[in-house]
Amino acid sequence: MIGGTAALNLTDVSKSYVDAGRRIEVLIGANLKISPGEMVALVGPSGAGKSTLLHVAGLLDKPDQGAVEVGGVSGYGGGEKLRTRLRRHAIGFVYQFHYLLPEFTALENIIIPQRVAGLDYATAQERARELIAMVGLADRETHRPAQLSGGEQQRVAIARALANAPLLLLADEPTGNLDPGTADAVFTVLRRIVSETGLAALVATHNLDMASVMDRSVTLDNGAVVAV
Ligand SMILES: Nc1ncnc2c1ncn2[C@@H]1O[C@H](COP(=O)(O)OP(=O)(O)O)[C@@H](O)[C@H]1O
Ligand SMILES: [Mg+2]
Repeated sequence: MIGGTAALNLTDVSKSYVDAGRRIEVLIGANLKISPGEMVALVGPSGAGKSTLLHVAGLLDKPDQGAVEVGGVSGYGGGEKLRTRLRRHAIGFVYQFHYLLPEFTALENIIIPQRVAGLDYATAQERARELIAMVGLADRETHRPAQLSGGEQQRVAIARALANAPLLLLADEPTGNLDPGTADAVFTVLRRIVSETGLAALVATHNLDMASVMDRSVTLDNGAVVAV
């Protein structure tokens, strides 16, 4: 995009881990810019560094070098308070496992992050109802996670990720635990929501059919982000 603010801008990001005394360089001078409304597939073999890239982009893991900007705000230009605020309001996460709170209903799982962000209960509940309808589960509001199928659990997890209206959605193999048919159905919901909301999304996936439905695909090549 020209003249606008990127939803995500990674500049010369490097990240290594030290494991059993050995340094593993995972990201080496990685650059990635995602515009609002763009859905980008992050593909590549296991161990390529997809999860590391998502953690760095989500301000969960500090890069050794380089800059991470979310919505034009530098994630490391401030302290932990700034990063907490960005993670809470600007970024939504979906993982392979749903991580829903088992003792709460589907609706409550979408209300809670909004309450944490300071919204009053009625407003949070109204938004949670909109979101649960958006993922096609209006008739499952009072179900607990254990009373939902795997695909339904992931759809609730998607709705929860959107609870505080983030500008960036990061999804790490969000359909990786599902059978192929269910995975397609969940991905279709995710694709539609990204299109409808103008959200930016970065989705790690092994599924090349899903990648082909996104706006573009990138992969990691020796620690750098390259177009596929
Ligand atoms: N916390 C960590 N400590 C040490 N090594 C790690 C850590 N996280 C990831 N790695 C290593 O970094 C590499 C990339 O891992 P990861 O980002 O999980 O790849 P992917 O998600 O593409 O499978 C792997 O070699 C992995 O073992
Ligand atoms: Mg991974």
